[in-house]
Amino acid sequence: MRYFHFKFVLFSIFFLTMLSACTNPDAPASNAPTPPAPAAFSSGEKLFNSNCAGCHGMGAKGSDRGPTFISKIYEPSHHGDGAFHMAVQKGVRAHHWNFGNMPKISGVSKEEVDEIIGYIRWIQRENGIS
Ligand code: HEC
Repeated sequence: MRYFHFKFVLFSIFFLTMLSACTNPDAPASNAPTPPAPAAFSSGEKLFNSNCAGCHGMGAKGSDRGPTFISKIYEPSHHGDGAFHMAVQKGVRAHHWNFGNMPKISGVSKEEVDEIIGYIRWIQRENGIS
């Protein structure tokens, strides 16, 4: 009986997710599953997960501590790669959201930030943001 309930709950979640994805094309990106990153971005993905995902969320979907990057606000023409390097080196004073300030992130080299940016840009392209 319990097992049945568990399967039923899982199925319901799956069904509701699919339903909301189908009926609402503007549904927030957080409803979409994160596809695995291609090999070229897997190192950027690992670096992102250990240094940024705590606030910007797994798959850059955002969390209660920081914004998602799957947003027009962070497309390359609004926040170019330089903005990412600056954010990591100097931190960010809260201005777009109410999450508070982003602290500077130490222990991540410029080359590693480039890899993180590559991964974020890939996710953005996957979501039609470029
Ligand atoms: C402790 C939480 C936290 C961590 C960890 C974090 N960020 Fe942020 N980040 C934030 C918050 C909060 C904002 C939004 C500030 C605002 O605009 O209100 C932000 C904003 C940004 C922005 C936008 C800057 C701008 O000019 O508006 C970039 C780019 C960014 N983060 C990159 C990163 C990268 C890359 C990492 C990992 C190396 C990272 N962040 C790790 C909290 C965090």
